[in-house]
Amino acid sequence: MVLRHELELTANKCKDLLHQYKFLIDSPLVSFLVDNQWQSIEDIGWSQYLLSLSDRDLTLIPDPKTFPVTSDTPPSLARLVSDCLSTYSSFPAVQSELPPGFVTLGMSPKKQHEVFRMGEAVKSILERDQNILQVIDFGSGKGYLPEYIALTSPGVKVVGLDREEVNSAGGLQRNKLMEKLWLPLYKKQNDVNNRGLDRNTMNHYQPVTIELKEEHISEGFVQNISTISKGFVSASSNSMLVGLHACGDLTSLLLQTFLRCPQLKSIVAVGCCYHLITQKERTQSYMTDGQHKRKLADPNSIHAFPTSRFLQQSPIYFTRNALNLASQAPERMSSSQSLPAKNLFFRAVFQVLLLDQFDSGSPCNVGHSASTASSFQNYCKAAFRKLKLNDVADSIIESCFERFNDSITERRLYIFHQLRILLARVIESLILIDRMLFLLDNEIEPSVLGLFDPVVSPRCYVIVAEKS
Ligand SMILES: C[S@@+](CC[C@H](N)C(=O)[O-])C[C@H]1O[C@@H](n2cnc3c(N)ncnc32)[C@H](O)[C@@H]1O
Repeated sequence: MVLRHELELTANKCKDLLHQYKFLIDSPLVSFLVDNQWQSIEDIGWSQYLLSLSDRDLTLIPDPKTFPVTSDTPPSLARLVSDCLSTYSSFPAVQSELPPGFVTLGMSPKKQHEVFRMGEAVKSILERDQNILQVIDFGSGKGYLPEYIALTSPGVKVVGLDREEVNSAGGLQRNKLMEKLWLPLYKKQNDVNNRGLDRNTMNHYQPVTIELKEEHISEGFVQNISTISKGFVSASSNSMLVGLHACGDLTSLLLQTFLRCPQLKSIVAVGCCYHLITQKERTQSYMTDGQHKRKLADPNSIHAFPTSRFLQQSPIYFTRNALNLASQAPERMSSSQSLPAKNLFFRAVFQVLLLDQFDSGSPCNVGHSASTASSFQNYCKAAFRKLKLNDVADSIIESCFERFNDSITERRLYIFHQLRILLARVIESLILIDRMLFLLDNEIEPSVLGLFDPVVSPRCYVIVAEKS
């Protein structure tokens, strides 16, 4: 059972951490040298300890579960590590292995993992509540998940909603291929498992192109989908909403729709792309970037963050840096056991050059070719081209690089980078807790589980809820 009080305590803990470690979260790493960000690590008394860590220890910093805490760790840093972990350690992890013979057809190993685990979570609800006859997928992409659900839950109709026509068309094509390739194999497997699939199972999935917006949050949602899908799903049957990596605002749109429409009985939703979330207060121009985002980004919308009463009473707004951080992959970074790429250092030095030569201090996008350059000279040339700036003499570039090209400056930058990632899940937890509290405000008891292995699929948390 979800205890509101515990969620509120954790939300407050997240807020305190975000406030206390603002200097880590909100500092753009490109300005690491320009703003002398390392000074804050000196001031807090962590510098000596962090600089004494081995390369391997540094790689383990982003994940609080692997952070190398020893008796030498400054107490405030050890506390930060355990506080970070405590903000999401109450979300239990799901363990299950992909069965042998799982037919992949175009799915990456990551997608197979997600589709299998999420598909099984959906199936278990459908098996328990036999009155749910339809599943509606928000942001179905190429249709991997809805197809899996249609295949493994005979008799259930599945509609995949996606704004990209190319996805719906691809979904249909793939569906036909699947019918030929996957079904006979799956059928064979299921003869053993006795799940009773029939040849028509694949006719139970239909992709539909639609851009979901606030106006779709209505009592008549299922009825609308029935009309749009030309009666493929019924207007009155009990339905489930699912979303696998329903990006940005799409997850809160899903939650609001679930609450509003009486035929919607349950949800299984995993969010992602937190940088695309609309907040009730515009704290960054970034939120209106992009074609789709422009249409969705109305801070007055009911699904803008925060959605829960608790957080609306004393809201916190994330900066662009904080939301970008929430989309990082701490466990994957720690498990890869590699230090950040060299271009991170180049970028910080380049910012100094920009300030010295062009009097420009604001962060900017230097483009892909700079990021893949093997030397600082090449990095600068590519970045100047991208930024449409005049070239700077090689000697000036060289001397700027030499000012910082010592092992300690680069190491400080990498440590700072790793420490920021340590806080990534705190931001994500607060977003998840807001969504849970919002459901509780509406008398729905949700649960959040670590559905995916975070190394395989970093956006791993699923919200599951059912109306009683
Ligand atoms: C991260 S992808 C996930 C795709 C799919 N669920 C999967 O896991 O393979 C998000 C999908 O949501 C779709 N999408 C995002 N916002 C949407 C909206 N407002 N309405 C409909 N589709 C949307 C995108 O086109 C994209 O295919």
